Amino acid sequence: MSLSTDSVVAIYPGSFDPLTNGHLDLIHRGRGLVGKLIVSVLNNEAKQPLFNVEERMDMLREAVAGMENVEIDTFDGLLAEYAASRGASVILRGIRAISDYEYELQMALMNRRLRPDIETMFLLAGEGNSFLSSRLVKEVARLGGNVSGLVPAAVERRLAARFPMPGPGK
Ligand code: PNS
Repeated sequence: MSLSTDSVVAIYPGSFDPLTNGHLDLIHRGRGLVGKLIVSVLNNEAKQPLFNVEERMDMLREAVAGMENVEIDTFDGLLAEYAASRGASVILRGIRAISDYEYELQMALMNRRLRPDIETMFLLAGEGNSFLSSRLVKEVARLGGNVSGLVPAAVERRLAARFPMPGPGK
């Protein structure tokens, strides 16, 4: 019997506020394991994100240009229902450190309860990205620190526009 993953659709959900190189690494590795990977941005304006959904999707689209089996989408409501509506059988999530585990376990078990036919698949973050988070990237950028190497170029440009460096004498 031959096993093919070509027909498997996976959802990689997240806030992506903004996309980091850690997310991008997961997209690269995840898309090699499935037929189609849908990276989907949570529409969570109530959380007052730095970038609105369209901006977050634009940054993702730019970063995945040329990856033919990757699609960018957005969702609200229950992830499990959204995944089912997109024909996905897998939810992809990354785990950086042990501190991520409890939250991810809770979400995976709740999603399994809601949709037993959908599996959550975890990939470990690359060791170079295990300290990296969107929250810290935003904080460093806001305080004028250098985020190059932590986020794709398109994200770096948007962060620089959002948090311009003060000119001399300011
Ligand atoms: O990048 P994040 O913020 O860690 O992603 C969290 C996300 C989007 C995966 C999570 O908040 C989510 O799935 N939200 C949708 C609401 C939902 O389905 N909640 C119940 C399942 S635990």
